[in-house]
Amino acid sequence: MSTQESKTRCIGILTSGGDCPGLNAAIRGVAKAAINRYGMKVVGFQDGFRGLVENRSIILDDRNVSGLLTMGGTILGTSRDKPHKMLIGGKKQDMTAAAVENIKRHHIDCLVCLGGGGTQKNAYHLHKKGGLNVLTLPKTIDNDVARTDTTFGFDTAMSIATEAIDRLHTTATSHHRIIVCEIMGNNAGWLALGAGIAGGADVILIPEIPYNLHAVAEHLMERRRTGKRFSIIAIAEGAKSVEEAQAIAEGKTRKTSPRREEVKYDEHGFAYHPVKEPKASQLTRQIQELTGIEARVTFLGHVQRGGIPSPTDRLYSTLLGTKAAELLARGEYNVMVAIKGRSCQAVPLKSVAGKKKLVPLDHPWIQSATLVGTCLGDRSIIAQPRVERET
Ligand code: F6P
Repeated sequence: MSTQESKTRCIGILTSGGDCPGLNAAIRGVAKAAINRYGMKVVGFQDGFRGLVENRSIILDDRNVSGLLTMGGTILGTSRDKPHKMLIGGKKQDMTAAAVENIKRHHIDCLVCLGGGGTQKNAYHLHKKGGLNVLTLPKTIDNDVARTDTTFGFDTAMSIATEAIDRLHTTATSHHRIIVCEIMGNNAGWLALGAGIAGGADVILIPEIPYNLHAVAEHLMERRRTGKRFSIIAIAEGAKSVEEAQAIAEGKTRKTSPRREEVKYDEHGFAYHPVKEPKASQLTRQIQELTGIEARVTFLGHVQRGGIPSPTDRLYSTLLGTKAAELLARGEYNVMVAIKGRSCQAVPLKSVAGKKKLVPLDHPWIQSATLVGTCLGDRSIIAQPRVERET
């Protein structure tokens, strides 16, 4: 393939935040198009922004980016490090200057960052404070990145969670139990709502709708009264009761990551994030006490992020990656490549960084869930009939 003219000669690429299906497919998409179509040099940094700061890199060529389309995880490795607040020797340090120096050392024209909300912020920081050219792709199973219709990784995770709910039905119906299934998503409810609807969960609890425990228990009892002797509850890991949401609103409790506590240090001075007691355990106990129905809990955890990407995610990753290469060749930097409808388009990174896309209460998924009789934890969420006319 003959190469086309390109304003960009060398790019860096890194993956940051939680791993997810489609990352390798996106690396392949960017690198194949950048190398083969536009003749660019591609430098991969290992383990996210930490590898950039520590100058741990590998050259990506057509051979080492082959065979990645179906592979889960990321060949580059990842971390949750921030360049401006990096834990070094037990202390948070601003390593922006080291990151900039390493970009210059490799003569990189633009750094491509694949990641979720945190990565969009970190990339924007490197642009604003470090003066670097950056370009980002939206990756996360949480689907909470602003200004893109969806993110790669979400479709695969939703399929995995849906299959889990399908399978949980077997035990729930055979033993006449309530089964609570905790689904990831951080502080957004997309994954639990999507999988809950697709899997036919009887109750779906998401962070955007604080739940009333008694309303949930009443719904479960009503099912039993009408002869339905089992129930499935899909609960997002970030779901909150009305009381918890109120405490956050009043500033009595801090809104934090649903899974991780603040960083702590072990006896050797190494940092780690202790895992919090999952919300689903507490809910299972409370529901069993209130209804008198035997209840069990299942945590899907990182299974949702593992394994091969779905065809939809492979397609999105490839579309996003190749669109990124096109933009780089034109010298269009400091943008995120977003999915809009069936194609991709660049949006200013400034309009993405620091924003979160939560489930709006008038979203069609919420309406449909309530119309099929799913309890969303709040009696006041009643479906309004949709009137949609062709124009
Ligand atoms: O952002 C992706 C995600 O899987 C969230 O859904 C979840 O809250 C978090 O990452 C878990 O992080 P970790 O793998 O660091 O425990």
